[in-house]
This record gives sequence, structure tokens and C-alpha cells, in this order.
Amino acid sequence: MLVTSKAARFGLLVAGVMLAGSISANDKPLQLAQLTDGFDAEKTYMQSCFACHSSGAAGAPRVGNADDWAMRIEKGMDVLVANSISGVNAMPPKGLCFTCSDEDIKAVVQYMVDKSQPE
Ligand code: HEC
Repeated sequence: MLVTSKAARFGLLVAGVMLAGSISANDKPLQLAQLTDGFDAEKTYMQSCFACHSSGAAGAPRVGNADDWAMRIEKGMDVLVANSISGVNAMPPKGLCFTCSDEDIKAVVQYMVDKSQPE
């Protein structure tokens, strides 16, 4: 009996954590959509930046890895955006997104930084 109720409570806890996770996961794209006036930063990231920035190819800071980003975030958004637009070392200008405006790049960099905060 005791075991069963413990299991039930654990199940509730797991469900609660999963629910919390799904709410916060769903939260971000909504906020971004509002901030960037309909431009889909996440989609652009997946299309143009994910190849390097998920794997760390050529030394790219991995999105979701706070350690990779801490030093870069310290430089400030203006520097990160400027470097993303003009390119820096193995980072190609605009991440090869030639249809992206400077504002679009800024929104994608913001998306990457948001995803790479320490827990
Ligand atoms: C061909 C691989 C590649 C692609 C595609 C790519 N990046 Fe990068 N990116 C890199 C590498 C490598 C670095 C690290 C450069 C360095 O500091 O030496 C980097 C660094 C960065 C930085 C940090 C710049 C800084 O000043 O520290 C930002 C921000 C960034 N990329 C944004 C983007 C965005 C936004 C896209 C897509 C639109 C993108 N990248 C696409 C390879 C890539």
C-alpha cells in the first residue's frame, strides 16, 4: 500500500515536471514571434546556423551550451550581432543566410543566446 502511494506520488511529480517543461518550451517561440514581428528566428536558426552551431563544427559555440557562450555573451549583443553579420574567423558572414536582413540576424543571435543561458 505504502509502495503504491509512493509510486503514485512519483508519477505525479514526473507528470508535473513534464508539464512545466512543455510550458516553458512552448513559451519561447511565442515571445520571439512577438519580439521579431513574425520573423521566425528558430526556423532560420535551424536552416542556416544549426549545422555548425549544434555540433560545434570548426569551433562554433554550441547552442544550448552555456560554457561555450559565457565568454561570447560577455562581449555584448552588439559585438555578437556585428560579428555574425560580417563574419569572424570560421564563422561565415550572416552564417550564409543571404536572405537575412541585419535585424533578422540580430533576432537569430538573440534566439541562440536565450537558448544558451546557464541553468
Ligand atoms: C559554417 C559554419 C557556421 C555557420 C553556418 C554559422 N556559424 Fe556562427 N560561428 C561559427 C564558428 C566557427 C564560430 C566561432 C568563430 C570564432 O570566434 O572563432 C561562430 C561564432 C558565432 C557567434 C559568436 C560570435 C562572437 O563574436 O563570439 C555568433 C553570435 C554566431 N556564430 C551566430 C551565427 C548565426 C546567427 C548563424 C546563422 C544565421 C551562424 N552563426 C551560422 C560557424 C558557423
